[in-house]
Amino acid sequence: MAVPRTAPILVASNRGPVSYTLGEDGSLTARRGGGGLVSGLSAIGPDANAVWVCAALGEGDREAARRAGDSHLNPGDTGGRQVRMLDIAPDVFAAAYNGVANSVLWFVHHLLYQTPVEPVFDAEFAEQWAAYESYNAAFADALAQEAVDEAVVLVQDYHLALVPAMLRERRPDLRIGHFSHTPWAPPDYYRLLPDDVAAGVLRGILGGDRAAFLTERWANAFADCCAAVLGAEIVRDGDSSGDRNRDGHGDGMATAVRFEGRETRLGVHGLGADADFLRERSRRADVDERLSTLRAQIGPGRKSIVRVDRTELSKNIVRGLLAYRRLLETHPEWRERVVHVAFAYPSRQDLAVYRDYTERVRRIADEINEEYGTEGWTPVALHVKDDFARSLAAYRLADVALVNPIRDGMNLVAKEVPVVSERGCALVLSREAGAYAELGEDALVVNPYDVEGTARALHEALRMSDDERADRTKRLAAAATALPPQAWFLAQLGAL
Ligand code: F6P
Repeated sequence: MAVPRTAPILVASNRGPVSYTLGEDGSLTARRGGGGLVSGLSAIGPDANAVWVCAALGEGDREAARRAGDSHLNPGDTGGRQVRMLDIAPDVFAAAYNGVANSVLWFVHHLLYQTPVEPVFDAEFAEQWAAYESYNAAFADALAQEAVDEAVVLVQDYHLALVPAMLRERRPDLRIGHFSHTPWAPPDYYRLLPDDVAAGVLRGILGGDRAAFLTERWANAFADCCAAVLGAEIVRDGDSSGDRNRDGHGDGMATAVRFEGRETRLGVHGLGADADFLRERSRRADVDERLSTLRAQIGPGRKSIVRVDRTELSKNIVRGLLAYRRLLETHPEWRERVVHVAFAYPSRQDLAVYRDYTERVRRIADEINEEYGTEGWTPVALHVKDDFARSLAAYRLADVALVNPIRDGMNLVAKEVPVVSERGCALVLSREAGAYAELGEDALVVNPYDVEGTARALHEALRMSDDERADRTKRLAAAATALPPQAWFLAQLGAL
């Protein structure tokens, strides 16, 4: 049965606002979906008159999607939102999500390959790429079915890079935007991809009217790739004639890409923290309870260095631990006086490289505790079980926040800590995080590969006076909340 065209606004993302667990008795339990993208899009409330199309990620989701058929999920599970969850065949989903999106596109944009031996694009990858195409086509089909004439469609992230062009073919009347939540690779690195894939991803996004990014840096890198791979014309600030320069070093910010007779505008929307939500949520009883437990664990009179991440290769948790070890080695005065509270929550555990990384994080934390720990002091408190309330408690008490990714589209932790912090918190921030563009001035900025430099920054952060920390935190919080999720979402819509 054909789905009626009812939606004037559509959002498409791999992960949706809800995920389900299937009980042994066949019951389904709904939980809020996690991650930065979902937090940003949570601005889409029940009154937004929007339909959110997402993929079924696990067995519980697939069962919920099957029960809903072509209809939307039960609004009781989705906070009243209209959500269509696509039941994509498990092998197609696994090849598209684990194979292409998370093992290849994610690695390219975050510069994660060890290039003497990786990547290898073989016959298996060719099959995974075909799966990625059909997974994208499933989204394009669903969106084409749901959208009213001239609807606006906001397609999210690297999982769905082909959707804009596929959807335009099916529904030329729609206004289509794509938003990247990741960094974008510079052309030399991007061209590690097989030529057809490199061109396919760019052509896919250029099928839309607009391509938007979290920072200017990523928008410029995208334009540079379009010029280098496709020979596209780049329009830059103050230049309406188009810039044919292929070296990717035009003067102003790239504002549009012209290719094969079409123009795709570029935009930047730096997703900010949701201050109202965070302040209210972080004062609830479950957070208070965890705060007491954490305080007891840290011990009276000690300072804390807090980090909160998915256990993700790009987050650079290992070098963060090495820097902390170096701090204890070079500044013995901090021994017994500081605890590194490290939350490294499970992520992408279907991929062996993520499982290995998790093991490595545990091992180094154990080594530091063995090397320096004493009867009454455990230098690293590592927690690997996801607990949002405990993360908020750690934000409240942190003296120092360590955010040192190798590369990150934005990094919302860097923006959330100053908002929730009780007494002010010094931020040690990687210059390779998108958040650096907005927070760099009041953070202690580090090169994420430089363990020695990071150890020095931790020392500076711990020594910062209470007044300076409080002042900086105030300014960081103001910058971090400049574009809260609701405004970020409306800005994307408005620009289309
Ligand atoms: O683009 C980044 C992102 O999609 C964020 O939303 C989130 O932090 C992370 O990746 C989630 O990844 P996954 O959906 O694979 O768990």
